[in-house]
Amino acid sequence: MSSSVYSPRQVVLHWLSAVVIIWTLLSGFYVAVVEVETETKDWVAFLNVSLTSLYIPIFILRLYCSFLHDFSLPLRKRSLPEYTALCVHKAMYLVLAVVLLTGVLMMDRPINVFDILFFEAPLSDPSVTAWFMRVHIQSCVVLLILVAVHVGAVIKHELCGRRVLKNMSIQKNDRYRE
Ligand code: HEM
Ligand code: HEM
Repeated sequence: MSSSVYSPRQVVLHWLSAVVIIWTLLSGFYVAVVEVETETKDWVAFLNVSLTSLYIPIFILRLYCSFLHDFSLPLRKRSLPEYTALCVHKAMYLVLAVVLLTGVLMMDRPINVFDILFFEAPLSDPSVTAWFMRVHIQSCVVLLILVAVHVGAVIKHELCGRRVLKNMSIQKNDRYRE
């Protein structure tokens, strides 16, 4: 893990993202794999489409904050574990972008956001939307693996006495850089 200290805005965006992503991944795969009532499946699909659509502008803001943070840090030589953590973090952003984009492009019905906002599905050809659905599911599997590796690394560091969770908390951020 790198030893960056994150701004309060990045910390809030990180934990908000973690809740949305972990919930969507686990509930989405759960209703896809386990036999559940149709109403439950429909309710999870409605909630997750609404939640993740609202998450898209938050993700763009998060990406912007992350790049701002990276460019504000002085250039320095990183150790191999620091490079590995950096690559996993950037891979999560990339795969998440693919998941969000394919989620929108696979829609074969209007995007209903909590029955308040409605957007037309951008594509109408069923073979094209079916292709995006396959890529959506595959990218969700990759994201799940990356999140598991990420959380595993955090637990490992904490058990070894490296308090990385402090980097992602507001308390320590009296010396953060934007
Ligand atoms: C944080 C981003 C997202 C995550 C983690 C995520 C995750 C998932 C997962 C795990 C599934 C179940 C896959 C399966 O069937 O095996 C799924 C299905 C689906 N996703 Fe996403 N998704 C995201 C974003 C989106 C977005 C932005 C949309 C559209 C606006 C969307 C629309 C859908 C739809 C329609 C399904 C199929 C549900 C159904 O009708 O059965 N997803 N998603
Ligand atoms: C319970 C779950 C999670 C925990 C405990 C956790 C913990 C952390 C910690 C401690 C850091 C700072 C690491 C450091 O200083 O080197 C971090 C950074 C990061 N986390 Fe998480 N995280 C979780 C879930 C997630 C999820 C679901 C995602 C998104 C897919 C995510 C994406 C990231 C990214 C991209 C960074 C780097 C931030 C940047 O440099 O812009 N995390 N996480």
